[in-house]
Amino acid sequence: KSLNYLIELIQLCCFISFLSAGSSDVIREVGDSVQLEIKGSVSEFDNFFWTFNATVNVLQYYKQYKEIKPSTRYKDRVKFNEETYSLTLKNLQKTDSGLYEVKAFSRDHTSSATYRLSVLDPVEPPVLNHRRIAKPCNSTLTCRGHDLSINSTCNNETCEEKEVTSPGGVALSLYVQESIIFCNHSNPVSWKQANKTFTELCAHTDSLQRTANQNPLCFLSLLPTRDYRIKVCGLCARLCSL
Ligand SMILES: *[C@@H]1O[C@H](CO)[C@@H](O)[C@H](O)[C@H]1NC(C)=O
Ligand SMILES: *[C@@H]1O[C@H](CO)[C@@H](O)[C@H](O)[C@H]1NC(C)=O
Ligand SMILES: *[C@@H]1O[C@H](CO)[C@@H](O)[C@H](O)[C@H]1NC(C)=O
Ligand SMILES: *[C@@H]1O[C@H](CO)[C@@H](O)[C@H](O)[C@H]1NC(C)=O
Ligand SMILES: *[C@@H]1O[C@H](CO)[C@@H](O)[C@H](O)[C@H]1NC(C)=O
Ligand SMILES: *[C@@H]1O[C@H](CO)[C@@H](O)[C@H](O)[C@H]1NC(C)=O
Repeated sequence: KSLNYLIELIQLCCFISFLSAGSSDVIREVGDSVQLEIKGSVSEFDNFFWTFNATVNVLQYYKQYKEIKPSTRYKDRVKFNEETYSLTLKNLQKTDSGLYEVKAFSRDHTSSATYRLSVLDPVEPPVLNHRRIAKPCNSTLTCRGHDLSINSTCNNETCEEKEVTSPGGVALSLYVQESIIFCNHSNPVSWKQANKTFTELCAHTDSLQRTANQNPLCFLSLLPTRDYRIKVCGLCARLCSL
């Protein structure tokens, strides 16, 4: 009796065919493609209907007729693979973010799988500035990336390393690697960096400025800006001292 029950159970379990998403949370960059894969007993189903946000028809596939019917809205940028039954969406835009569902039908059974797609812009490059607070090299650094910012203090060889994050996996971090100060702005699909060397923090603008102020040539003021005067006169003073 219990053997019969077991056989029944095995039959029940093995006649139920089901589907699942290859990966149900998918994140892509604007312009990328995404392939939504179906896992499970795919070959047991005859018809496949893909929808976006529950109401928008994306594509339908009728196995018996080998017929692929993309909706007019997706016609130019959707592909269906008749072997793996996966759906590929090309040239993604932010408006493609949302819920995708595939419903599969066989004569006596239906199953479905869902995918949540997020399409993100790449991050903006961060901006890294420094301001000298004491000689020789003590500085405060400010790194900004979109709505995140970090302040850090540095001396001639180290900086306070910091990281800030915002919801959605956007992060800004400041760290030192092989004597270079990096500020890294990232989101789940991209990252961009800005960097500075400690030499820049310790640059000799002070000594150039002093030389420039002592050099009589500088008082001729033929040069349009203070920065030019400092550079040219500093250089001149160095050449003269050779
Ligand atoms: C699709 O649904 C998501 C929420 O799941 C919503 O944020 C998005 O605006 C919807 N997109 C369209 C085009 O209706
Ligand atoms: C400059 O940095 C050094 C090393 O961290 C520190 O000892 C010193 O006090 C700093 N100077 C000033 C004026 O902050
Ligand atoms: C960084 O420093 C600036 C100027 O001192 C200040 O206005 C800003 O609020 C600071 N930002 C953070 C994240 O501490
Ligand atoms: C600055 O760096 C140099 C070389 O790395 C080191 O010899 C010196 O002690 C440092 N100065 C301070 C004030 O930390
Ligand atoms: C910046 O951060 C991202 C994400 O954490 C990481 O993948 C990337 O390697 C980092 N870039 C650098 C130059 O450290
Ligand atoms: C520092 O930034 C410059 C400008 O973005 C880049 O060309 C350079 O490769 C960076 N240096 C390193 C070590 O990543």
